[in-house]
Amino acid sequence: MNNKNTLVVIGAQWGDEGKGKIIDLISQNAEVVVRFNGGNNAGHTVIVDNKIYKFRLLPSGVISPNTTNIIATGVIVNITALLEEIEEAEKNGLFIKNLYISDRSPLVLPYHIILDKFYEEKRGANKIGTTSRGIGPAYTDHFSRDTLHIGDLLDKEIFREKLTYIYNFKRAILSINYELPSIEEIYNSQLNALEKLLEKGIIITDTSKLINDFINRGKKILFEGAQGTLLDINYGTYPYVTSSFTISGGVCVGAGIPPQSISKVLGVVKAYTSRVGEGPFPSEIRNELADFIREKGQEYGTVTRRPRRVGWLDFVALRYAKRINGFTGLAITKLDVLSGLEKIKIVVGYKYQGKILDEFPSSLHILDKCEPILEELPGWKEPLRNIKGLHELPNTVFRYLERIEKELETKIDIIGIGPERKDIIILRDPWL
Ligand code: GDP
Ligand code: IMO
Ligand code: MG
Repeated sequence: MNNKNTLVVIGAQWGDEGKGKIIDLISQNAEVVVRFNGGNNAGHTVIVDNKIYKFRLLPSGVISPNTTNIIATGVIVNITALLEEIEEAEKNGLFIKNLYISDRSPLVLPYHIILDKFYEEKRGANKIGTTSRGIGPAYTDHFSRDTLHIGDLLDKEIFREKLTYIYNFKRAILSINYELPSIEEIYNSQLNALEKLLEKGIIITDTSKLINDFINRGKKILFEGAQGTLLDINYGTYPYVTSSFTISGGVCVGAGIPPQSISKVLGVVKAYTSRVGEGPFPSEIRNELADFIREKGQEYGTVTRRPRRVGWLDFVALRYAKRINGFTGLAITKLDVLSGLEKIKIVVGYKYQGKILDEFPSSLHILDKCEPILEELPGWKEPLRNIKGLHELPNTVFRYLERIEKELETKIDIIGIGPERKDIIILRDPWL
């Protein structure tokens, strides 16, 4: 069962760390890529030869021609959105083959999207700032055992029966008078999308069996995390989180594999921090420097195009992420964005009511009032994008990287120096 060939890639912050680009790089050397959590709230960007791919439900490994791609049970699937994404990828020149979807994956249905927007409206000033993709309501229905699975679509009679029951049940308990699409509309849209997906050769199956078989055969498997540690439903900055398990432990429940079959965990850390949506953010930069970094790093949501909030690297949050995920290596992305800054700051601690906190607080109330304790390091002027290797990196970049390695007691495997596939330097093989 112990497979030395499994690598989990996890966002260490609030998402958008650059996981897509890292997955694309590593999947060129993998046989299987598995998404295990979240839904089409994710937006993973990969840029190859000026061509931009944005993956929401598809594993970012689909660009590599020889990988098997799996959407596992922990992912909730809006199948009309998946079909659109595949058609968009095909227009972009990708041929989507070897794609398997779990028959146990819960469906995101049109009324979940309506409810997501409705809840946000009613939350008013307390809104979470969701991606409006129906993620929260769809996971809620799953956990309250009132949902449909993709596998239900495979038998039209069962699907109609279950849909009719659940639809009427939802209608009866919803006090809102929103125009919901009718049973017939939902029935047709889901089956039409399913038919087109099946025509494309996509296979709906027991993906846990498939993945475990691959593990037992020693295949090289990459597990692609969506969102980030601080958006995890249990360990993130609740309630300003998403509704799935975004941490490395989420792989076991999401993919249906035993913990001992996970061998390596790569934490993807943006060289600064970004957050889209509401919620506390102790290292947030609140002056024009934030605009500089946002523009230079193109920090706008992949899914919603919302401007992302930006802040300094936060060691309190990253130590917490290391503890929860057990990173065996790190990828530090977007170092190039910090070029040109005279000083670079790092949050090394939080101060709350005059006391220094060693740990990332569980209470949002406390987190909200934490003041960052900052350390300054010298910046670098040089643009990093076109440098050819480690030997060309300015000393001050090394100092920054060494500071991160020392603090997190974890080696850096990869550094990102630009948005393109080629803008990357590999220091260590993350599989080893
Ligand atoms: P993900 O959700 O973690 O996959 O990240 P996103 O794709 O949502 O956001 C990361 C953004 O940064 C994308 O626009 C990437 O093209 C870009 N990006 C990734 N790595 C780097 C890097 O090293 N440098 C720069 N400048 N951009 C990067
Ligand atoms: P990737 O995989 C960044 C955020 C939303 C919101 C909160 C809840 O691209 O890193 P949801 O729609 O999930 O109910 O929204 O979570 N969020 C993300 N932020 N990157 C993501 O994914 C995100 N997915 C959800 O902005 O604050
Ligand atoms: Mg993203």
